[in-house]
Amino acid sequence: MPHVVTQSCCSDASCVVACPVNCIHPAPGEPGFATAEMLYVDAATCVDCGACATACPADAIVPHTTLTEAQQPFLALNAEYYQTFPHRDRAPIALVHEQRRLRRPGPFRVAVVGAGPAGLYTADELLRHPEITVDVFDRLPTPYGLVRSGVAPDHPHTKQVEQLFAQIEQQPGFRYFLGVEIGKDLSLAELTARYHAVVYTVGAASDRPLGVPGTDLPGSLSATDFVGWYNGHPDKQDLGVDLTHERVAIVGNGNVALDCARILAEDPEALARTDIADAPYAVLRDSAVREVVILGRRGPAQAAFTVPELVGLAGHDGINIVVDTGDLPPEEALAGDDVKSRLLRELLDRPVDPARRTIVLRFLASPVEIVGEGRVSGVVVGRNRLEVDESGVAGAVATGETELLETGMLLRAVGYRGLPVPDLPYDGDTGTVPNEAGRVRPGVYVAGWVKRGPTGFIGTNKSDAEETVDAILDDLDAGSVGEPAETTARLRSVIRSRQPRMVDLAGWQAIDGEERRRGAAAGRPRVKIVDVDEMLRIAADAGGPRYGRRRTERT
Ligand SMILES: Cc1cc2nc3c(=O)[nH]c(=O)nc-3n(C[C@H](O)[C@H](O)[C@H](O)COP(=O)(O)OP(=O)(O)OC[C@H]3O[C@@H](n4cnc5c(N)ncnc54)[C@H](O)[C@@H]3O)c2cc1C
Ligand SMILES: NC(=O)c1ccc[n+]([C@@H]2O[C@H](COP(=O)([O-])OP(=O)(O)OC[C@H]3O[C@@H](n4cnc5c(N)ncnc54)[C@H](OP(=O)(O)O)[C@@H]3O)[C@@H](O)[C@H]2O)c1
Ligand code: SF4
Ligand code: SF4
Repeated sequence: MPHVVTQSCCSDASCVVACPVNCIHPAPGEPGFATAEMLYVDAATCVDCGACATACPADAIVPHTTLTEAQQPFLALNAEYYQTFPHRDRAPIALVHEQRRLRRPGPFRVAVVGAGPAGLYTADELLRHPEITVDVFDRLPTPYGLVRSGVAPDHPHTKQVEQLFAQIEQQPGFRYFLGVEIGKDLSLAELTARYHAVVYTVGAASDRPLGVPGTDLPGSLSATDFVGWYNGHPDKQDLGVDLTHERVAIVGNGNVALDCARILAEDPEALARTDIADAPYAVLRDSAVREVVILGRRGPAQAAFTVPELVGLAGHDGINIVVDTGDLPPEEALAGDDVKSRLLRELLDRPVDPARRTIVLRFLASPVEIVGEGRVSGVVVGRNRLEVDESGVAGAVATGETELLETGMLLRAVGYRGLPVPDLPYDGDTGTVPNEAGRVRPGVYVAGWVKRGPTGFIGTNKSDAEETVDAILDDLDAGSVGEPAETTARLRSVIRSRQPRMVDLAGWQAIDGEERRRGAAAGRPRVKIVDVDEMLRIAADAGGPRYGRRRTERT
């Protein structure tokens, strides 16, 4: 009986290293790893030892025998990968890399700016070197970036990666400076004066512009804001989400669009068991929304959502899913024998239960104008056809036909976008910091979404961080970064003079513990605290912030 990789796979490849028979692919370094939607177990060679399941931070690998009804398609999904890329054709790979060692003696200090997945994977990779200590800064009093404020509350397995992050932050040589915004509370120059290397892992905080008239009408919201709102991001709690109408339209059909649609269509009783923030939950509980229409500008084959997420949605028995292929007949639009087309074909035949909310996956449809008197009341939707360019890419071309779709809210889920980072160069086309394999210049580096743009899964940031850390080690070895002018001995007092709201590891652990305690009492994973003042009170009651008194101050 083989093990099977399922929906919550975040592509970090921890299982690849654990597997004794090299039967999980694509592995890091193999073709397709960087773009894989998930990893796959080869049933023909799996010996069912369970080592991968123990290594997996997201509970994504399960024995075949424990698959639920809704998870059954993952069996075929894992198998189909090996029909396309047979395992026997692969050269064996060295699964455990030899640990690189620094040639220059330390100690070395590294500052990591941003405590999201890229920041924590970077810290973890650096701390494999006993000569290196790492200070991680985040502008919020809570770490974990989009794992806390992006990953959907109904994906608790994915959020389990927080346990891995908690292990990283407890390693010797790790310190947090949370609630400290680099570029505002401290400058890059002040960091480079104290650290051998500074790594920015600040993510992509904004959204791609949609660029149609009416975008600024009240009721037209970015998915970036909406996601932060329901996940309890302190900056997004005043969003003013109005769900007193029956339909929401979402533009874009990536995984973020699916997340938003599920949260809007979910049964309130199911949402009540998650870590969704309390005030947004109350709005969603009382919501009048019956239908969520997802507008994809191209056809089903080009949909940006991933197959594992579609499998998850298709397996959700509390929501109707309707597939609308626009002007393209379904038998033509969904002719493929791939899992995505098969699933969408199956969905075509599903009956719609009027007692449930409905998500409509509409293809070949673009917003032309968002309309309304003082707030959104509809969106003019233009029909598209597909045109394949000379490089083989299918693009959407407007047919000129339009119709009005009435909607009380429009979510723009057309992708995230990185903002300029103070003191660093900026590429306005990609919304990233120009870099070479993570190096901006010797001593200054980037990893994660600020480095490669807003794509990929949590685990994608692990291999990305490894590449950046390699660049740092190269520069330390080559001596191309000098000894900083100052130590970090007085850093805490400098920060405190400008930002008295700083939170350390003990403070974060107190906030985390309190959230979990409240969650346990309510039968939920955690009850999120969204008020920064309340977080700071809890951190202070725990004895933090208190650098220097509790720990020996570092140099
Ligand atoms: C809505 C959504 C849902 C997702 N769901 C999944 C999922 O289910 N599974 C999956 O595998 N992947 C998921 N992803 C992708 C995953 O979240 C990203 O790949 C990952 O979070 C990117 O990591 P990052 O560290 O580059 O950025 P982030 O996670 O955004 O972290 C950046 C951090 O930097 C901090 N920061 C920013 N500016 C400063 C500053 N000036 N000073 C100090 N700190 C600063 C921020 O507060 C933040 O904590 C999702 C993404 C989104 C948008
Ligand atoms: N569960 C998960 O694993 C999970 C959950 C959420 C996010 N993520 C990851 O996070 C990353 C970001 O996700 P995302 O959904 O924000 O981005 P995305 O995957 O890039 O999807 C963006 C969508 O917006 C559409 N779009 C862009 N510009 C448009 C325009 N002007 N008009 C109409 N449509 C437009 C795109 O269509 P085209 O394809 O035609 O350009 C695409 O459908 C992805 O890598 C995603 O997989 C993962
Ligand atoms: S169960 Fe064992 S053999 Fe099978 S994929 Fe997992 S680690 Fe490999
Ligand atoms: S989350 Fe990581 S360890 Fe788990 S199945 Fe996916 S790649 Fe493997």
